[in-house]
Amino acid sequence: MSSILSVRDLCVSYGAIKAVRGISFEINEGEIVTLIGANGAGKSSTLNAVSGLIRPASGEVDFKGQSLVGVRPHKIVERGLALCPEGRRVFTQMSVAENLDMGGYTRSDAENEETMRLVFDHFPRLRERVSQSAGTMSGGEQQMLAMGRALMSKPDLLMLDEPSMGLAPILVDEIFTIIKELNRQGTTILLVEQNASMALSIAGRGYVLETGTISMTGTGADLLHNDDVRKAYLGA
Ligand SMILES: Nc1ncnc2c1ncn2[C@@H]1O[C@H](COP(=O)(O)OP(=O)(O)OP(=O)(O)O)[C@@H](O)[C@H]1O
Ligand SMILES: [Mg+2]
Repeated sequence: MSSILSVRDLCVSYGAIKAVRGISFEINEGEIVTLIGANGAGKSSTLNAVSGLIRPASGEVDFKGQSLVGVRPHKIVERGLALCPEGRRVFTQMSVAENLDMGGYTRSDAENEETMRLVFDHFPRLRERVSQSAGTMSGGEQQMLAMGRALMSKPDLLMLDEPSMGLAPILVDEIFTIIKELNRQGTTILLVEQNASMALSIAGRGYVLETGTISMTGTGADLLHNDDVRKAYLGA
């Protein structure tokens, strides 16, 4: 397996606050890797730094063998790395189709049309609501739209920041099924979740983030059965 993303000694600070304190992790092509941790552990800061939205204080981020540090976010998308951000940041005034178009801005219209059809195959509900303005969609539908928008750039690595947040269990199952399906079709996945049991059950490997530091790593199954993980993150 070859590495697609390599993060070394990554630090993220907000003024005096050290949110991420020198973490290192690796993702290989074709994997589903999950990053779990409590509120404020630094999960979103990590994803935002990798995708160029915030500049790391120090550390290295290599994607397909090239450094991403200092590369602008849209260029990172062009290289094949997309982020579906926390909290369904869709463009509320725009329609479903317009939101998806925004996600495919690096591609031609013809290509976008085809990719949109694939997105609709994953999320039939978006097809039914193609002209609806995003702000009037339900929370779950907005989450699907946020994922669909990230997929429009046809990423090799898709990073998902808490895709199950606030969703009813049946919709959580649906979202996780789609994540597995995307992975089967060749997309590498980095999944940030507070729903640790679901995340660990679909991930090949996982990392536990505790106050900006990686405290544990292992296969999804190992972490799922680890006593410390169960007590801290699985309510067992
Ligand atoms: N823009 C910011 N300015 C100041 N502090 C910030 C900022 N963004 C995040 N932080 C702080 O950095 C730490 C890590 O936040 P982060 O959002 O990365 O955590 P998280 O693991 O994603 O948490 P959650 O599970 O609640 O989403 C927190 O203490 C948070 O308050
Ligand atoms: Mg977060």
